[in-house]
Amino acid sequence: MKRIAIYPGSFDPVTNGHVDIVRRGKTLFDQIIVAILHNPNKESLFTVDERMFMLKDSMKGISGITFDTFGGLLVDYAKECGADAILRGMRAVSDFEYEFQLALMNRKLNRDIQTVFLMTGLRWIFTSSSIIKEAAQFGGDIADMVPPIVNRMIKERYGTDKN
Ligand code: PNS
Repeated sequence: MKRIAIYPGSFDPVTNGHVDIVRRGKTLFDQIIVAILHNPNKESLFTVDERMFMLKDSMKGISGITFDTFGGLLVDYAKECGADAILRGMRAVSDFEYEFQLALMNRKLNRDIQTVFLMTGLRWIFTSSSIIKEAAQFGGDIADMVPPIVNRMIKERYGTDKN
């Protein structure tokens, strides 16, 4: 039987940490659906289409993954997809409380879908989309924390590509 996991997130933008989790996830699951949460109430730097473009480009070398967007409850979407699990990355202890709450709420909403946490590689332990945006906004070099497409697009967005 095919084991399917959903890897959900905002991916605003995708980082090397996200790519690392998908690579590790592929050793456990036959298919991973990388799904962007479409939340019109949340302000984002990149549109869903831009985020999708960057995700696809960043993960083009990995087999057995598909890409999608979803709205509403994650567990409903996971059920629709026939997924067995929700895949989430865990970095430092600071992630734990939020991830624990999310996983327990999702379990309460649907007991059949398990949350699987994978540790990111040590090099990505301090890499997050928000810290990357903050650094990039002020011209900080983020080239070794994000896929090349993201480095390019984030510089264009902040107008720091001319420096
Ligand atoms: O990358 P993020 O922003 O940490 O991802 C958070 C995400 C998308 C996994 C989470 O916000 C989510 O699943 N949202 C959909 C609504 C939902 O089901 N929330 C959890 C139970 S209330």
